[in-house]
Amino acid sequence: MSAPFGSYQAEIYLQGLNGVVPPFTTDAGALEESARQVLEPGPFWYVAGTAGVGATARANREAFDRWRIVPRMLRDATRRDLSTTVLGTAMPAPVLVAPIGVQSILHPDGELATARAAAALGLPMVLSTAASHTIEEVAQASGDGPRWYQLYWPNDDEVCASILGRARAAGFTTLVVTLDTWTLAWRPHDLDGAYLPFLRGVGTAIPFSDPVFRAGLAQAPEDDLTAAVLRWVPMFTGTDKSWDRLPFLRQHWDGPIVLKGILHPDDARRAADAGLDGVVVSNHGGRQVDGASGALDALPAVVAAVGDRIAVLFDSGVRTGADVVKALALGARAVLLGRPVAYGLALGGEDGVCHVLRSLLADLDLTVGLSGHRSVRELTPQLLHRRP
Ligand SMILES: Cc1cc2nc3c(=O)[nH]c(=O)nc-3n(C[C@H](O)[C@H](O)[C@H](O)COP(=O)(O)O)c2cc1C
Repeated sequence: MSAPFGSYQAEIYLQGLNGVVPPFTTDAGALEESARQVLEPGPFWYVAGTAGVGATARANREAFDRWRIVPRMLRDATRRDLSTTVLGTAMPAPVLVAPIGVQSILHPDGELATARAAAALGLPMVLSTAASHTIEEVAQASGDGPRWYQLYWPNDDEVCASILGRARAAGFTTLVVTLDTWTLAWRPHDLDGAYLPFLRGVGTAIPFSDPVFRAGLAQAPEDDLTAAVLRWVPMFTGTDKSWDRLPFLRQHWDGPIVLKGILHPDDARRAADAGLDGVVVSNHGGRQVDGASGALDALPAVVAAVGDRIAVLFDSGVRTGADVVKALALGARAVLLGRPVAYGLALGGEDGVCHVLRSLLADLDLTVGLSGHRSVRELTPQLLHRRP
């Protein structure tokens, strides 16, 4: 039986008897505005911004709005168990912390704070290749917490193999290969401020601490930052890979491998045929192809194509417990939480991330129960109604 996450609600109300209110908002819709008040425009827009005019990010939310939950009554859902296991990773609820790069622009503790908060709750954290702390530092902060590693696939095979070897050695179990960001999209919010952290050597801790990457430099990154940046940036962006390169990853990763950024069922089928272990249905939160399908709109066809063969995970637009219920009911095995975690980090470091995660889990727990269910396995499409 997983922890009764809904008890965060009682905890908050009881604190209120002492005149104490939560340090951060519990309203998922208000987090972005709260974070805006504590961040400089560059970092704020790096998180809140989208590709183009934001059509895909809007589509993500609209897709959730099209589905409505139809709660069932008198089914004794007082005791609930949200726990699940995905690709061998046990988790107290089907929620992972999405890979988010350059977290030190939001809080000095960056990924370390996120790792501690996720581990305290037992939720898996997916560490980005674009992290501002090293693989080993994040592993230490994560302790016994479950952790997956997200790869931005470098063009240099030796550097790639070295990074993968480090991640495996540091206890990262599943590899998440992000396919939709082999180059950055047109992101006006960042362009207008000419803000790209990587060019300033932020979000480069993993390559800069990598022995193979460092061996390819005339001088260490500490001595010549520009040269190191100019070697890394073209190495991890600018070149698309093809399906025939996937065996390389299999050779260098002996755990499960998941492809992130899948929207088309044919790509999902191809991943299953290629022997991959899962996909993340995602449009990168609307940060890549503007005018793309809302991610939730793409989920049912992917589940229909491969849901019985490989694990289908989901992200892009998840904000509330009801959102998680909808994605799970449509066949996702688990969801990844993105921007809300970044806003929590900005607002209060580890405490902020912890609050955001506990709020989502409480909301999820209560919504599962109030809709008449006791476990996430019971959530099926029959729970949902699609608005005309
Ligand atoms: C600031 C920011 C940085 C991100 N960095 C990465 C990254 O390094 N690797 C990756 O695979 N996805 C990255 N993502 C995408 C997330 O993993 C996830 O797909 C996205 O946030 C989901 O959309 P949502 O936050 O609107 O729900 C990033 C997203 C944001 C907002």
